[in-house]
Amino acid sequence: MNKRIAVLPGDGIGPEIVAGAVRILQTIETLYGHQFELTYADIGGCATDKTGTPLPNETITICKNSDAILLGAVGGPKWDSLPVEKRPEQGLLKIRKALNLFANLRPTTCYESLADSSPLKKDIIEGVDLIVVRELTGGIYFGTPSERREIGGKPGAVDTLQYKNEEIERVIEKAFEVAKTRSKKITSVDKANVLETSRVWREIANQVAEKYPDVLLEHMLVDNAAMQLIRNPKQFDVIVTENMFGDILSDEASVLTGSLGMLASSSLSEEGPYLYEPIHGSAPDIAGENIANPLATILSTSMMLRLSFQLDKEATVIEEAVNNVLNKGYRTRDILSPNCKIVSTNEMVEAVNKEIFELVAST
Ligand code: NAD
Ligand code: IPM
Ligand code: MN
Repeated sequence: MNKRIAVLPGDGIGPEIVAGAVRILQTIETLYGHQFELTYADIGGCATDKTGTPLPNETITICKNSDAILLGAVGGPKWDSLPVEKRPEQGLLKIRKALNLFANLRPTTCYESLADSSPLKKDIIEGVDLIVVRELTGGIYFGTPSERREIGGKPGAVDTLQYKNEEIERVIEKAFEVAKTRSKKITSVDKANVLETSRVWREIANQVAEKYPDVLLEHMLVDNAAMQLIRNPKQFDVIVTENMFGDILSDEASVLTGSLGMLASSSLSEEGPYLYEPIHGSAPDIAGENIANPLATILSTSMMLRLSFQLDKEATVIEEAVNNVLNKGYRTRDILSPNCKIVSTNEMVEAVNKEIFELVAST
C-alpha cells in the first residue's frame, strides 16, 4: 500500500515523540511491504518563529494533499505572551477547522499492567474501556465575538459559546456509529441545567437516538460526569460531548490509564484526511530530556493505520507490542510501577520496535 503522511512534530516534546512514532511506522512499512511517503511541515511555535504564523499555508496544503496527518504537540512558555494570532495553539485550532475535523475520538483503555501506575484504586480502574467523542470545531473555542477585552465600553472579557444544530448532530451521529461497534451505550454529557447550547444538544441527542434503537442513550451533567469518571468509570462506554467539556474530561480520563502520556486520538471529518495526535500537550517541563512517554503517539499511529488505511493487522501488532512491553515492565517516568524498568523515550520506542519484529516473526 502507498500512502502519503503529513508529519507535524510541533513544539516541546512533539519532535521527540513523533520521531519515535515515525520509527514504528517505518518498521511497519518494512515488515508489511507498504510505502509511507512522509512530508514534514511546521505547526505551532516553531512555525511562528520561522514564518510569523503558527499555521503557514504550506502546512495546510501539505496536510490537504496527504492521506493522513500525524501531529505531535504545540505550545510552550516561549510563545505565551505573543498576540493571539501568533500563538501556537491557534495553529492547532486552525488546522482542525481547515480540515473540518469535527469529531475527536479519545479512547481510554486501562492496561492491566498499569493498574498500579494510576493514583486510583485498582478495582476502580481495572477493565476500564471507554471512548470520549469530543466535538472539535465548534463551541466556545470558535464562537464570535471572542477575544474581546471590553463589554459595553467597560473593561471585561468575552468568549462566546455557540453551536449550529448541524454541528451538534453530526458529532452525535458519529458517536452513535462508534457505539454501534462497541457495547451500545452512549452517555451524552452537557450542562443542560444552565446552558441553552446544552439544552439543544440534549434535544438533538434524543432525536438522533431514535435512529439507533439498539443503542442506549443517557444524559449526564458535566459536573456529575467529572465525578463519576473517577468514582465509577466502568459505567461508561461512549461519552459524547462538546469541545471544551471533552477537552477537560479526556485529560481527566487519562488518569484512569496511569498517565496523560498513554492517550491517543484521531480527529475525523466527513471527507478526510484524518489527523492523529496524542491528547497531551508539548510538556515544556520535560521537553528535550528524552523522558517523555511516546506511547500515546505510537498508539495514534495504530489508530491511523486502522481508521485511515484499514490496515487492521498492522494496527493490532502495534497495540499488542505496546501491551507486551508494558507487561515486561518497561516504564517511562510518568507510568512507574513497582519493580519496573525505567526507560527513556528512545528506549521505550526501541522496546516496542523489537517487540513488533518478534511478534511478526512468530506468526
Ligand atoms: P501538557 O499536556 O503539555 O502537560 C501536562 C503534564 O503532563 C506535564 O506535567 C507534562 O510533563 C505531562 N505530560 C504530558 N505529556 C506527557 C508525556 N507524553 N509523557 C510524560 N509526561 C507527559 O499540558 P500543559 O502543561 O498544560 O501545557 C503545555 C503546553 O502544551 C501549553 O502551551 C498548551 O497550550 C499546550 N498543549 C498542546 C496540546 C496539543 O498540542 N494538542 C494539548 C494540550 C496542551
Ligand atoms: C488538546 C489541547 C488543545 C485543545 C489546545 C492546545 C488548543 O488542549 O488538543 O486537547 O484545547 O483542544
Ligand atoms: Mn487538551
